[in-house]
Amino acid sequence: MAHVHVLLNQKGGVGKSTLTVNLAAVTAEAIGVQPNGSPSVLAVSVDPQGSTSWWADRVGDDLPFLFAQAHKDLAGLAKLRKITGVKHIFVDTPGWLDLSEDDDQADPLGDGRAAEILRAVLDNADSVILPIEPEPLGFKPTLRTIRQVVQPRKLPYTVVINNWDPRDGSVDLEQTQDFVRKSDRGHLAKTVVRHYKVHTRASAEGRVVTQYDANRVSLQARQDFDKLALELIINGGAK
Ligand SMILES: Nc1ncnc2c1ncn2[C@@H]1O[C@H](COP(=O)(O)OP(=O)(O)OP(=O)(O)O)[C@@H](O)[C@H]1O
Ligand SMILES: [Mg+2]
Repeated sequence: MAHVHVLLNQKGGVGKSTLTVNLAAVTAEAIGVQPNGSPSVLAVSVDPQGSTSWWADRVGDDLPFLFAQAHKDLAGLAKLRKITGVKHIFVDTPGWLDLSEDDDQADPLGDGRAAEILRAVLDNADSVILPIEPEPLGFKPTLRTIRQVVQPRKLPYTVVINNWDPRDGSVDLEQTQDFVRKSDRGHLAKTVVRHYKVHTRASAEGRVVTQYDANRVSLQARQDFDKLALELIINGGAK
């Protein structure tokens, strides 16, 4: 059975799609292909805005993992874990979904399906990855996601600081790390994903992290994803 990692955070723009695509890429490269030659990693997007889908399209035939856009495929999502041949599945979720259990209020698709889709994903999740940015106050919406959605389901989870620019100094980073450790001891990833322009440009250029040029900066940018994937896999998908 595949291990299903769900990238989740009520807060938008924190790196869910960037982490989905690049974790899928480095994991696919590390574990190789199935005996039939097809990739052992699948990325799934349930974001109707389809930014991951657009990215995957731009990479085209060179995409090193399988990809499925599934925001309408409730039946498929319910069977996610049972997909054979694939070892790791990374699921990208939208930032604006209403994550509460008794939610009739916010329903961006307007047909009650958004909450159902998220429920199907979480029912099939083995672990959750919550990207956050290095802003101490930004952790509050993330904490809400953890308390309302992740902990009631007893899902293992990891909080990952993403988009830290070392040129900004380490004060915000350290404050964010302290904040996370205080409220969620033991769930903070050791790996910090740094800010690199090459990541920001990658979707428009149709590249994933394993396809960056082999220059020093790109290799540093890639190293964060190699480390993060290794940390997540060693910890069984979460802390
Ligand atoms: N480590 C990084 N370095 C540079 N740019 C980054 C990094 N992480 C994310 N970005 C950029 O920040 C923006 C938001 O990232 P992304 O789209 O992955 O967030 P998201 O959580 O999926 O957003 P949404 O909630 O809208 O789906 C994108 O332009 C992306 O390229
Ligand atoms: Mg996204």
